[in-house]
Amino acid sequence: MKKGDTGVDWKTRFKDKVVSAEEAIRRVVRPGDVIGGAMTCGFPQVIPEAIVEHAEELSGITILHGIVVGNAPHYAPELADHFKLRNIFVFDATRAAIKEGRAEYIPMYFYEMAECWRNGVWKTDVSMMQVSPPDADGYMSLGITVGYTPAMMDASRAVLAEVNPNMPRTNCEPIIHVSQVDYLVEGDRPVPTIPRSQPDEVSQAIGRHVAGLIEDGSTLQIGIGAIPDAVLSCLTEHQDLGLHTEMFSDGAVDLLRKGVINNSRKSYLPHKSVVTFLLGTKELYDYADGNPDVVLLPVEKVTHPVVIAQNDKMVAINSALQVDLYGQVNAETIGNLQFSGVGGQVDFVRGATLSRGGKSIIALPSTAAGGKLSRIVPYLDHGSVVTTSRCDVHYVATEYGAVNLKGKSVRERAEALISIAHPQFRDELARAIP
Ligand code: COA
Repeated sequence: MKKGDTGVDWKTRFKDKVVSAEEAIRRVVRPGDVIGGAMTCGFPQVIPEAIVEHAEELSGITILHGIVVGNAPHYAPELADHFKLRNIFVFDATRAAIKEGRAEYIPMYFYEMAECWRNGVWKTDVSMMQVSPPDADGYMSLGITVGYTPAMMDASRAVLAEVNPNMPRTNCEPIIHVSQVDYLVEGDRPVPTIPRSQPDEVSQAIGRHVAGLIEDGSTLQIGIGAIPDAVLSCLTEHQDLGLHTEMFSDGAVDLLRKGVINNSRKSYLPHKSVVTFLLGTKELYDYADGNPDVVLLPVEKVTHPVVIAQNDKMVAINSALQVDLYGQVNAETIGNLQFSGVGGQVDFVRGATLSRGGKSIIALPSTAAGGKLSRIVPYLDHGSVVTTSRCDVHYVATEYGAVNLKGKSVRERAEALISIAHPQFRDELARAIP
């Protein structure tokens, strides 16, 4: 991080730096600038609205960021001619724009994002993020999202921080001193939340199969989507689990409260839950607020496969949209529609592979579209992409069981996958064995 002057007169500096969002933009944004935004709940709420209001005066602006969970006013269809939109993980607020060609998706491993800013692959002139209010010494927490924000700030000509008293003060690294930002915009919107997913019968069955693969003392990564959360709900009888994951969700808090996750046997940063962002309900955010045992670190210190591998018995649990009979995993596209992103899936699959006693598990329901489509397919749909390759894949689980594809031939892995496909599609799949 850039070193700021952390002298004692930070309160005066703070007052001098607080301006309206409009004024902040007027002072720092120039035509042709790239504005980088923090991801998930770190994405500011007041500043983007001001950018949108001044869309007519701002020419040639590019806006780049990862998942936005709350509002993304710059994605409104009527603004399509004003901003160039670049997205590193597609989610509800940005999916339609990607589909309609109003925004572009950038495929990227999560751990590499910080490096993209640091080595100039991504140029950002102005960066914006939400922070908690300063402490007695003028330090502000990045709250529930660290991710790539520190690297993005370092690469920017100007930094705009939206100070939000609703942003939890987490045990995160780095913390930001008032002197390290150019302008501060005050906001008090609630931090965006997403509801807990409600496990159904299928996801419970998947959860039980996955739970059977997890040994006591393992360290878990839990991916995004309904299935990883269902898996957590099936782990209540396990002991001494640890947490090292990009995303920390409500299901993990339940296990921490029960003492099932206690981080006692972790080989890397023991006694701490290590994450790079939180996404869930307010209860989850309250749990992390001021909690010294939940440590948020920059993405490259959490999801780099070499870092992940320092955890023995690392178990990576992620979901997918389709798996073909070669074992190729598509977690991102439905046909040629970019539905989601790579996120940390491949980072953790590879990190778990490198870990002593590690496992990676791709867990998905056997069907989609109300049972009409098999998710285990002879070939990925036309236009689909491979997220996790057939050489990286390890276990695959559906509600019909879990199979280990590592070391298996093309035919053996096809047969294994067919054994966990929905029975209604097994004959058809058997006829398509490559
Ligand atoms: N064909 C057509 N539609 C499909 C489909 C397929 N093969 N697979 C899924 N769908 C539809 C589902 O029916 C569902 O539609 P609905 O909302 O109308 O019911 C929708 O696509 C979402 O699928 P679902 O499997 O329910 O999504 P999820 O919320 O469980 O998330 C992933 C699954 C794969 C999208 C999610 O894990 C993800 O985003 N992964 C990204 C990579 C990753 O794992 N990164 C690590 C964590 S950041």
